[in-house]
Amino acid sequence: MLKNKLSQIKKEALAKIKATNSSKELENLRIQYLGKKSEFKKILRSIKDLASQEKKVIGPLANQIKENIEKTLQSRKEEIAEEKEKKEEWIDVTAPGKRNTLGHLHPLSIVQRDIEDIFVALGFEIADGPEIETEFYNFDAVNIPADHPGRDMQDTFWISQEKDRQPGSGIVLRTQTSSVQVRYMEKNKPPFRIIIPGRVFRNEATDASHEHTFHQFEVLVVGEKVNVANFLFVAEEFFTQFFQEKIKIRLRPSYFPFVEPGFEFDISCTSCGGKGCSVCQQTGWLEVGGAGMVHQNVFQTAGYPRNKYQGFAWGFGIERLAMMKYKIDDIRLFHSGDLRFIKQF
Ligand code: PHE
Repeated sequence: MLKNKLSQIKKEALAKIKATNSSKELENLRIQYLGKKSEFKKILRSIKDLASQEKKVIGPLANQIKENIEKTLQSRKEEIAEEKEKKEEWIDVTAPGKRNTLGHLHPLSIVQRDIEDIFVALGFEIADGPEIETEFYNFDAVNIPADHPGRDMQDTFWISQEKDRQPGSGIVLRTQTSSVQVRYMEKNKPPFRIIIPGRVFRNEATDASHEHTFHQFEVLVVGEKVNVANFLFVAEEFFTQFFQEKIKIRLRPSYFPFVEPGFEFDISCTSCGGKGCSVCQQTGWLEVGGAGMVHQNVFQTAGYPRNKYQGFAWGFGIERLAMMKYKIDDIRLFHSGDLRFIKQF
């Protein structure tokens, strides 16, 4: 009787275990067939009351069945896990592939490299200087001593505290790439022609045409016979190559402490070629930057003898050129990080 019952339990348990597909269901079956309250456990508990003859048969049989059920439970558990894994690993070979997005240069980098290429082809070298600069190189060395009204032309981010400042030894975020002029001249003798691209900072409110952080381009050519005609030639050549169309230059007298004479210069309008349009406010000209013949005081500070050399210096904003070339109407877009803007280049 007991024997029959046991094999009945076994048959039923194995069938149910094999039929299930869920691991939760498997656990329920284990409790149902081998748990404390199961029929099987009841039988095990009753074995001690059996006649010894019967005990010898039922005991081992019960053990064998228990082992059998446990093994089946275990292997079904593994099978279910494997099936699940297979299902999750399934690959849809017909699904469209993911495209890798490639990065590219920022518009300012593109323009800076274009400018550098043009000047390097004209025989210029590229020079560099620190963005955190001493008051001396940024101002005093280029003929803007303390209390000179020229300092007011450029609102400055001071790094050193006002109260600790010894004359000339303050630390600033450079306001102009002209800060590299004397740094370079202290280490190099004329003749030379260099360009100095770099980031500059002004403590000003921002709007569509002003940023507190922007880029300038300094051009410095020094020799014994350098003159304004040389400047005009280089400027015309540069802008014509940069805009890939014939550009004319117009000089207007202006003042910068480190040049004498100094001028601001315009280029013929890149939108209308000089006829007059809304971009140039009907003047035919676009204002581009400052320039002039290097002041002898600057040469003297660099350790050159007075009146031996002449040179021209010239500075302009890279953002402004990029805005003209790509017809961008807000300088703040460059540092906005807005991908809708960046991705157009
Ligand atoms: N450094 C001047 C500025 O930032 C530009 C300039 C450079 C003018 C060289 C003359 C000569 O405004």
